[in-house]
Amino acid sequence: MIATVPTIPVTTAIASYRVHVGSGLLASLGRRTRALSTRRSSRVFVVTSPEIWQLWSADFLAGFASSSPPQPLFLPAGESNKRLAMVERLAGQLARARADRDSLLIAFGGGIVGDVTGFLAAIFMRGLDFIQVPTTLLAQVDSSVGGKTGVNLLAGKNLVGSFHHPLAVFADTDLLRTLPARELRAGMQESVKAGIIRSPRLFRYLEANAAILLDPQHPEHRKALSHVITASVRIKAEVVRADEREHGVRMILNFGHTLGHAIEAATGYKQLLHGEAVGWGMLAATRLAVTRGLLAQAEGARMERVVHAFGPLPRFSASARKLVALTGSDKKTRSGILSFILPTEIGTVVPVRDVSRDELLTVAESILHDAKAAAPGAAAPSKGHLA
Ligand SMILES: NC(=O)c1ccc[n+]([C@@H]2O[C@H](COP(=O)([O-])OP(=O)(O)OC[C@H]3O[C@@H](n4cnc5c(N)ncnc54)[C@H](O)[C@@H]3O)[C@@H](O)[C@H]2O)c1
Ligand SMILES: [Zn+2]
Repeated sequence: MIATVPTIPVTTAIASYRVHVGSGLLASLGRRTRALSTRRSSRVFVVTSPEIWQLWSADFLAGFASSSPPQPLFLPAGESNKRLAMVERLAGQLARARADRDSLLIAFGGGIVGDVTGFLAAIFMRGLDFIQVPTTLLAQVDSSVGGKTGVNLLAGKNLVGSFHHPLAVFADTDLLRTLPARELRAGMQESVKAGIIRSPRLFRYLEANAAILLDPQHPEHRKALSHVITASVRIKAEVVRADEREHGVRMILNFGHTLGHAIEAATGYKQLLHGEAVGWGMLAATRLAVTRGLLAQAEGARMERVVHAFGPLPRFSASARKLVALTGSDKKTRSGILSFILPTEIGTVVPVRDVSRDELLTVAESILHDAKAAAPGAAAPSKGHLA
């Protein structure tokens, strides 16, 4: 018997799969993988990082028959390794190990491993099946769902990629036990985003339970985390179902990301984690919405409080002009027009296309003012930089 855990269906025009969320999933991963694979003789490869493998390989492998364990392939940690060169290297290793079209890949890691493995699966022999086993909160609530895969170029993040959905996602909450506290906080910002864009209920839950969600010793911690992951995935699944290729509503997932991406680029991907940059970006978007009269001040203040509750957002330095210039070059622009996702109330956002340079400068200055006063990050984020 395989234990039942909450599952969320993801259905799009080209794919249909389930996201399983809960404790103890690793133990049954082998059986679950076999049940999913239509190809009996398929070989299984697991792409992971050396750090994650060291922490979790025993638990991972325990779920598979010892006669045919998945073969590990390694991607070193850090955004600087999310590059085409690494995809080529991994593809070479697959070819040398005689992987074929019936082989299956498992992405066992955070968003970086997930994005690279998904892309490798999309293009190796023109497409292999793959499974996501996300190990960071960010990957469990966001990046493992929705089919976006890809790598960075020197010119910018995620500029080369493909839509390729997994056969399934297994988000085992036990894996988060070893996740550094800073990574947990940063991942929570993507759930805050999900609440603000689509779910007053999730927002209220985050507002009321921040302390429990951030305290691994609290008896209700695991249950609360599972609840938040399930609710966040449900929201992402709904949005992706409605607009798989980001022609319309999927753009709401970029709330906080327009300025967030600019902050990441301006700081060389070194000072902040992605979720932290998104936290600053959400504060900026909220202030912009209040200034424009789109959002009541009190609602804006509530949003800011929740972002800070999952902080502290660490200090960073950049110039307002640079942030504005980088915002304009975000790949989310269409025909040169920048679309900002702004909240009108908790649970509702709208795209706004006429944000002026002056408005952007003002909001960037306001964020930079706060960022200067913020505490430095507790520990250096995983080797940043696109180079
Ligand atoms: N495809 C999408 O839709 C999508 C969405 C959002 C973000 N992303 C991408 O995700 C990436 C960021 O992902 P991330 O935040 O998961 O970062 P990450 O993959 O770099 O992982 C963060 C760090 O945590 C470590 N780690 C991972 N799991 C661990 C565990 N269980 N215990 C201890 N340490 C662990 C990793 O080795 C790494 O050092 C970015 O490249 C971003 O572009 C993609
Ligand atoms: Zn994000």
